[in-house]
Amino acid sequence: MWICDNLSISKEGRLTFAGRDAVSLAEKYGTPLMLLDEGRIRRRCREYKKAMEESFGGGSMPLYASKALCFKEIYRIMRDENMGIDVVSPGELYTAKEAGFPLENAYFHGNCKTDEDIRLGVSEKIGCFICDNIEEITALNEEAGRQGRKQKVLLRLTPGIDPHTHAAISTGKVDSKFGVAIETGQAKDFVKLALSLPNIRLAGFHCHIGSQIFEYKPFVDAAEIMFKFIAEMKTEFGYETEELNLGGGMGVRYVESQPTIDYSANIAGIGKTLSEMSGRLGVKMPKILMEPGRSIVADSGMTLYGVGGVKRIPGFKNYVSIDGGMTDNPRYALYQSEYTVLLANRPTEKADGEYTVAGRCCESGDLIQENVPLPSPKRGDILAVLTTGAYNYSMASHYNRIPKPPIVLLSEDGGEKLAVRRETFEDMARNEL
Ligand code: LLP
Repeated sequence: MWICDNLSISKEGRLTFAGRDAVSLAEKYGTPLMLLDEGRIRRRCREYKKAMEESFGGGSMPLYASKALCFKEIYRIMRDENMGIDVVSPGELYTAKEAGFPLENAYFHGNCKTDEDIRLGVSEKIGCFICDNIEEITALNEEAGRQGRKQKVLLRLTPGIDPHTHAAISTGKVDSKFGVAIETGQAKDFVKLALSLPNIRLAGFHCHIGSQIFEYKPFVDAAEIMFKFIAEMKTEFGYETEELNLGGGMGVRYVESQPTIDYSANIAGIGKTLSEMSGRLGVKMPKILMEPGRSIVADSGMTLYGVGGVKRIPGFKNYVSIDGGMTDNPRYALYQSEYTVLLANRPTEKADGEYTVAGRCCESGDLIQENVPLPSPKRGDILAVLTTGAYNYSMASHYNRIPKPPIVLLSEDGGEKLAVRRETFEDMARNEL
């Protein structure tokens, strides 16, 4: 019945999440409230690690793409689980450092790293820069020289793959703003340059084809193109690739109509293709890295809202208004993303109609989901939106001066921890003179 196995019904008939009564948590911490199933996040990290080691060989490992959900405690969880991380900004780098994450296991992404970002990354001894373009690698070479370091680097390349996902989250096509294209021959020049720079140690290549991808084939197709490129670089420059980073992007089940993904099986499939290619093309199998973000945290998250009002417009539409919305979850407004919605205090009652879930912003597009079946919602109900762990809190805004919700971690041993406090109005106005 449930889209995720950490959901159930208590004997009082209320929704439970990670074994806890969701309504009691909403009463205790207030709404909107983000809950995170910490045990599930940890298990998913272990699943990726184990599958990658088994399928790709030793040294291969997952890097958590922390843009999906960034706050100090998540970096501590990643440190405990011996995961690497990918950071895309100095702000993520700072948060990881403050949390005590070992930065030698961090990979620094971004298509517009400033001189200051580069200086910071080198001085913090970040493990690896993923260079997006020629200007960046040239500036990095100079900065590394000034700081007397030889910086490990991967080059971000675009393999020219269309992964059939939403256009805004598809990134591996030739005309992408990220990376350098293989198809145009520019990637080869990028490698030639990287190999000539004295303060750069080229460790290998990176690609990321997109996000929320259910099919398994686009990853194999991308790996195949990258492997051919690796073979070509060996012939051309005698260059042996140490690391190949295949990016993130594996999908997550948000609604019943979507499939459940077996991440280990997908990884095993990619591993099989890679070792077959390595033999066929005569190249040594590099260490394989992946950058899962969504698939590490999405289905470990749930957001609870208080219902403020219900509006029925006869012959048109019903609205249920909630005390959050696009400020804590902009994904429907941006991508028409699907979500499963239910009432946490009456999850098993039969729906009496379809309702559009509207946020509290002064904006008609502030919707969380349209036309979802609900059992006669009313003011005071607690509405649960499932699978909100990824790209919700990290994409939250202060539009209409609405504070960001708190995050409560629910651990496997029954413990519960307030990991992020609810923002105050004062917090939001802090920098204003
Ligand atoms: N690596 C790179 C270089 C990326 O750009 C991304 C995501 C990832 C890894 C992680 O991908 P994941 O495993 O999470 O699919 N805001 C959008 C998603 C944007 C994804 C951006 N890059 C959303 O809410 O759907």
